[in-house]
Amino acid sequence: MPTPADWIDLSGKVAHVTGGAKGIGAGIAKALAMAGAQVMVSDVNLKGAKETANAIGGHGMALDVTDAAAAKQALLDTVSTLGRLDILVNNAGVYQKFGGPVATITDKMWRTLWSINVDGLFYCCRAAAEIMTEQGQGGRIINISSTQSVTPGVGVTYDGSKAAVTQITKALALELAPVGINVNALAPGPTWVNDGPPPKTSGNPPPPTGAPLADSVANRIARLPKGHWGDPMEQGKAAVFLASDMSSFITGIYLPVDGGWLTL
Ligand SMILES: NC(=O)c1ccc[n+]([C@@H]2O[C@H](COP(=O)([O-])OP(=O)(O)OC[C@H]3O[C@@H](n4cnc5c(N)ncnc54)[C@H](O)[C@@H]3O)[C@@H](O)[C@H]2O)c1
Repeated sequence: MPTPADWIDLSGKVAHVTGGAKGIGAGIAKALAMAGAQVMVSDVNLKGAKETANAIGGHGMALDVTDAAAAKQALLDTVSTLGRLDILVNNAGVYQKFGGPVATITDKMWRTLWSINVDGLFYCCRAAAEIMTEQGQGGRIINISSTQSVTPGVGVTYDGSKAAVTQITKALALELAPVGINVNALAPGPTWVNDGPPPKTSGNPPPPTGAPLADSVANRIARLPKGHWGDPMEQGKAAVFLASDMSSFITGIYLPVDGGWLTL
């Protein structure tokens, strides 16, 4: 009879993680590999993808997710290199430089961010759904959303794109459940992906009443209940859960991994 250790074991599974050169994607790729999966790491930054892959005994490749044909080819190449595709993690995403007051957001800023965060994610979902359906053994798609999907604060471009990711996830979960493909959204809260130690947070609980409805991102980070920024590996642990048999009956959910952000 399988044990919890068997449920979490990803041995024999093949995963593809987009945007895995650094940050959360690198943490997720590492966690999946530690759980036994063979991992293909892709990124627009090929050198970084290879560095992540080398560190975890995986494979690295170049992929700009905004190129629909390249996204499909990257997943087909994963199958030809590693034999199959069981898990797709759509992590590639951008947020810096695209925020600000709505009047300052240019058409180019809007389109650039949406082409990565939404179009690219869709291209990879579409290709993975086709491959996994043909394989006939189900699969897992994990879309990296954000707490900004429900609590705006970075700006219309990013916040809107992550709300789209969450709803695309639910729609796909409904469509793909009959063929055994679970599709879930993992929503990181503040996760430190830059060099050096993260800034200190107070961890002071928010006032029970009277808090302003629209709180700034900086204020929320300062009051984050867990009292510290998240680490990419904390996102990785949640990704292993969603990729494994531990979550066999879970599809279409939005899983915040946020240190209590959504309680604020
Ligand atoms: N760090 C956080 O606090 C946080 C919070 C919520 C959600 N997220 C989400 O997590 C994901 C990863 O963010 P991160 O903080 O690790 O960012 P990051 O900037 O550290 O890493 C993002 C990676 O995506 C790659 N990338 C960018 N454009 C790409 C493209 N067109 N094709 C392929 N790869 C591309 C980059 O080269 C980079 O390696 C994003 O979807 C982001 O929106 C992050």
